[in-house]
Amino acid sequence: MEKIIDEKQQGNSLVIEPKKQNTRKLFIESYGCAMNFSDSEIVASILSKEGFNTTQNLEEADLVLVNTCSIREKAEQTVRKRLEKYNAVKRINPGMKVGVLGCMAERLKDKFLEEEKIVDLVVGPDAYKDLPNLINEVEAGRNAVNVILSKEETYADVSPVRLQSNGVSAFVSITRGCDNMCTFCVVPFTRGRERSRDPQSIVEEVNDLAAKGYKEITLLGQNVDSYLWYGGGLKKDFKDASEIQKATATNFAGLLKLVAEAQPKMRIRFSTSNPQDMTLDVIEAMAKYPNICNYIHLPVQSGSDRILQKMNRLHTREEYFSLINNIKDLIPDCGISHDIITGFPTETEEDHQDTLSLMKYVKYHFGFMFAYSERPGTMAARKFEDDVPEEIKKRRLTEIVSLQQEHSLYRTQQFIGKTVEVLIEKESKKSSEQWSGRNPQSTVVVFPKENYKIGDFVNVKIKNCTSATLIGEPVGLSENN
Ligand code: SAH
Ligand code: F3S
Repeated sequence: MEKIIDEKQQGNSLVIEPKKQNTRKLFIESYGCAMNFSDSEIVASILSKEGFNTTQNLEEADLVLVNTCSIREKAEQTVRKRLEKYNAVKRINPGMKVGVLGCMAERLKDKFLEEEKIVDLVVGPDAYKDLPNLINEVEAGRNAVNVILSKEETYADVSPVRLQSNGVSAFVSITRGCDNMCTFCVVPFTRGRERSRDPQSIVEEVNDLAAKGYKEITLLGQNVDSYLWYGGGLKKDFKDASEIQKATATNFAGLLKLVAEAQPKMRIRFSTSNPQDMTLDVIEAMAKYPNICNYIHLPVQSGSDRILQKMNRLHTREEYFSLINNIKDLIPDCGISHDIITGFPTETEEDHQDTLSLMKYVKYHFGFMFAYSERPGTMAARKFEDDVPEEIKKRRLTEIVSLQQEHSLYRTQQFIGKTVEVLIEKESKKSSEQWSGRNPQSTVVVFPKENYKIGDFVNVKIKNCTSATLIGEPVGLSENN
C-alpha cells in the first residue's frame, strides 16, 4: 500500500506509568501532526504533578482531553465525532470533565463552548502550563478558556512523559509556531509566531533519552530549517537582537551538529523542512554525520510557479530543482518525500501537469497527498474562491497518487539485493514472526525475527518489495549497537 494519507490524524490515547500518589484519571488523545502527539506528552507531564494518572479507559476518566487538528475540514469533523462519543460516556459518568486542546481550541476559542455543550475547557497550544488553574475553575463549576498565544513559550523546562510505546523512538520539539504564512495554511493562526527552544535543553533531552535506551529521535517543528536560537524571543525579532546575540546564535545546521556530536549512536531525523528555508549547511551537516538519517521530508505543494506564488511558497520550481540537485550531489542515497495539495484555487489542467512533471523529475520515495480544503481566516479563504470542483480535485488527486505509487515502487526496487541498516521498532502488522523497522531513508523494512529484539540495529539484505515495504533477511547486528 502506498502511504496515501488522506488524513494524517489517527486517534491515539496516551498512557504513562502510574504514580502511586495520583488518584485522578486523565484520558488524553491526540489527532493530527506529530507536534500534537508531542504536546500531549507535555500535558500529561504537567498534569501528573496535579494528581492525574493516565488511563486508556474513557469510561473511568475524571478528565478527558482531546488534542485537536484544524489543518483540513475533515480533521475537525473527526474531532466533532469524538465529542459525540464523549457525550454518550458523560451520561454514564456525569462528573467527567471534557477539555479541548490544540489547533481547534485556538481557532474556535470560546465559540467552542457554545457550539459543543459537552466542552468545559478550551486551551490553546501555548497555554498548557495554565491547565492546573483552568482545571480548578472547571471543578468549581465554571467553564475555562485560555487561548493566549505566547512569544516565549517553548516548554523547554517541561520534561515530557513518554508515550509508553516501544522505548526506541521519540519526538523532541525544537520550534513552535510558524512565520511562513502559506496562504492555504491555518497553522500560523493556531500556533502563533515562530520561536525556537534553547539548544542546551534540546541536547539535555536527547542525552536523557539516550540514557533511557532510546535509539532514534525526530526533531520537530513546523519549519525546522528556520530554527534560530539567540537567547529567546520570536524569530521575527532577531533583527533587533544585540551583536553578541547575533554572533552566538545557533541555526538549524548548528543544532544538528550539537545533537549529532552529543549522541553519535543516536539516529537523528527531523521534520518538517520548507524548501525556501533549507540551506546548504543543513545538507552538509547531514552528509558529514553518519547518525543523521539520509531522509528529508520536503513538501512542495505544487509544481506550478503560478500556484506556488499564490500559495506564498517563496521558491520557484527551478529553485526547488536546484535544492534537489544539491541534495543528490551531497547525499546520493537520500530519501525524499513530499506533501502535495491538488485543486488549490484557480489550478488549471496545465498547473496540474506541472505538478506531475515535477514529481517525475524528483521520483519521490513516498508522499502525502491532499485535496485542497479551504480554512476560514486564511489568506486563501479571504482572497481566492475555492473554485476547483470537488470531482476535479479528486481526479487530480487520484492521478498524483497513482504516479507516486509508480515512483515508490521504483524506489523500493532499487534496494533489492542491497543490505540496509534497520532499527527494529515493533512487530510487523502482518506477521507475528517478523520485525518491522525503517532504514535511514525512512522506508519500512520487515524481516524474520530470529533472535533480534526491539531496539536492535540490524543489517538486512533486501530480497523483495512492495511499493511501500522492503522485505528482507537479517545478516547480523550492525556496528551501531
Ligand atoms: N510545516 C508543517 C506543514 C503543516 S501541514 C509540518 O510540519 O508538517 C502538513 C501538510 O498539510 C502541508 O504540507 C500541506 O500539504 C497540507 N495542508 C495544509 N493546509 C492544507 C489545506 N488547507 N488543504 C489541504 N491540505 C493542506
Ligand atoms: Fe503551514 Fe506553510 Fe508553516 S504549510 S505550517 S504556513 S510552512
